Amino acid sequence: MQEKNVEFQNITFQYPEDSQRMFENLSFSVARGEFVAVVGASGCGKSTLFRLINRLEEPEAGRILVEGRDVREQKGYSGFMPQKDLLMPWRTVGKNLMLPLELRKIPKEKREPMAREMLRQVGLEDCWEKAPRELSGGMRQRVSFARTLLSGSDLLLLDEPFSALDFLTRVSLQEWLAEQWESLGKTVIFVTHDVEEALYLATRILVLRGRPVRQVESIPVPLPVPRRRQMLEQPEIQELKERLIAGLQREEAAYYEN
Ligand SMILES: Nc1ncnc2c1ncn2[C@@H]1O[C@H](COP(=O)(O)OP(=O)(O)OP(=O)(O)O)[C@@H](O)[C@H]1O
Ligand SMILES: [Mg+2]
Repeated sequence: MQEKNVEFQNITFQYPEDSQRMFENLSFSVARGEFVAVVGASGCGKSTLFRLINRLEEPEAGRILVEGRDVREQKGYSGFMPQKDLLMPWRTVGKNLMLPLELRKIPKEKREPMAREMLRQVGLEDCWEKAPRELSGGMRQRVSFARTLLSGSDLLLLDEPFSALDFLTRVSLQEWLAEQWESLGKTVIFVTHDVEEALYLATRILVLRGRPVRQVESIPVPLPVPRRRQMLEQPEIQELKERLIAGLQREEAAYYEN
């Protein structure tokens, strides 16, 4: 059996402002080295899963384990890319990127080359000296993604990391992330609204539905790794895609009715 990297044990959670619970007695796990995509209607709690893993919110009941240990007993166990970027406006792009390296206590002389190389990987080598406000939304998203990877963490939590990107940039970063994942063996949990993106990248898709969410549906993606984009054209993948989209549409409709 594969070792569990992240484990939700009977999590119950409700935002104080809300009249309804978001999660009720929710349990699921992600194994080490998996690439899991999380999909679900807007507002169903995808970002909240990450907020709970990172202890930005505390559950009412239940425990969350990372590498078999309660998150309350540890620090620095994940590289988190939030949906809204948290770049520091007063630091240049370069200095934003070197921050996680400082925190990791990487020797000073290595920080700049590492950060510059990562910036090159996301196609923004010319932006080193720029301030975040000088960048477009998609560029900020790429810097934020680069910063998350520089955290060096074995667990990456990426909340819609490519949602603001133009089509071609998105495709090339998807490919790059897939290669990184294959070669580095990290665990990735990836929130997306894009079912095709989920099918291309993930080994398993978790679907959140209902309010409160009581369980997640787990759908393995029946494709080998490394992936090629043409694989998405296979009839069984097309069918799976249509099924996922129809399910999400039903969920969205149910939200509007409430
Ligand atoms: N303090 C809060 N912070 C964030 N969400 C809150 C808060 N209080 C209540 N909520 C509710 O939580 C829900 C949003 O949850 P969450 O951000 O996890 O959803 P999501 O699945 O990530 O949505 P999206 O796909 O739009 O990003 C909304 O219904 C919102 O009203
Ligand atoms: Mg969200």
